[in-house]
Amino acid sequence: SWTPANMAEELVEQVREQVGESRAICAMSGGVDSSVAAALVHKAIGDRLTCVFVDHGLLREGEAEQVEKDFVAATGVDLVVVDAKERYLEALAGVSDPEEKRKIIGREFIRVFEQAARDIVHDRGDNEHPVEFLVQGTLYPDVVESGGGTGAANIKSHHNVGGLPEDLQFSLVEPLKALFKDEVRQVGLELGVPEGIVWRQPFPGPGLGIRIVGEVTAERLDVLRAADKIVREELTLAELDREIWQCPVVLLADVRSVGVQGDGRTYGHPIVLRPVSSEDAMTADWTRLPYEVLAKISGRITNEVPEVNRVVLDVTSKPPGTIEWE
Ligand code: XMP
Repeated sequence: SWTPANMAEELVEQVREQVGESRAICAMSGGVDSSVAAALVHKAIGDRLTCVFVDHGLLREGEAEQVEKDFVAATGVDLVVVDAKERYLEALAGVSDPEEKRKIIGREFIRVFEQAARDIVHDRGDNEHPVEFLVQGTLYPDVVESGGGTGAANIKSHHNVGGLPEDLQFSLVEPLKALFKDEVRQVGLELGVPEGIVWRQPFPGPGLGIRIVGEVTAERLDVLRAADKIVREELTLAELDREIWQCPVVLLADVRSVGVQGDGRTYGHPIVLRPVSSEDAMTADWTRLPYEVLAKISGRITNEVPEVNRVVLDVTSKPPGTIEWE
């Protein structure tokens, strides 16, 4: 009968057979899929797997540490961390158009990853153990979606590792491609992937870069990260993490409004809360969060984040709104 344990065992065996004596690399984003895929392949081939984590500086508070420390401690994978924060800020300077931002973030990712991959092929590979495989956390729904070629998938340009140059040819290892999300989580738990990663809600590849409406700067990222941290803390405290699909927190960086704090006038930015309920992200409804939770979040953000003087709630379903604002 099917159990997470024998499912994991079987997938590990399949990876072993596919990779043989070769080596593999994997791009880790910190999300559930790439983390579980990496843990699985690591179980199968151990140190012959090298993971690459590109820190683009667009992650939320604590997420880079979760990958660099918790994941590595729990699984023992060989992880190469590329600090690309400055590079991304430079590439994004002066850009406010959402699609432009997405393209830049995707393009920079490929460039950084490509360089890391070349270094790994050179440093870790040898004649008996060449680096021949690229691990991807593709799930069954992704396979169906890309094969179906529906227009909906192209409303926004999603990014993952594609478009590597001709001379960097890898065969793909996709150990999760017959699995649904809940099965991936079960397998992840079985393999000891930290719970904080296994139960993580969806988070877009372009990260906070597409949650700042306007230009992305280091200061704005700090403001958004501070507000987002508060939202996540309060939703967790209220035990709502499993009820909501995800809750993007958006900084309207080009909008300012007048407020009052103490004796003084303020002229700050609004933060938008976008809590949604969904089955598969194709459609979504806005989540009716309890008023007390909203009040707590609003009070804390306006008190603790000086640049923000207003908190607003997005009450739009998808369609017509998308989940993310960009
Ligand atoms: P939208 O905004 O299109 O989002 O309603 C649907 C789901 O996809 C996530 N999303 C992304 N995930 N790369 C990703 O890996 C992306 O570029 C991307 N854009 C949106 C979004 O968070 C939601 O779960």
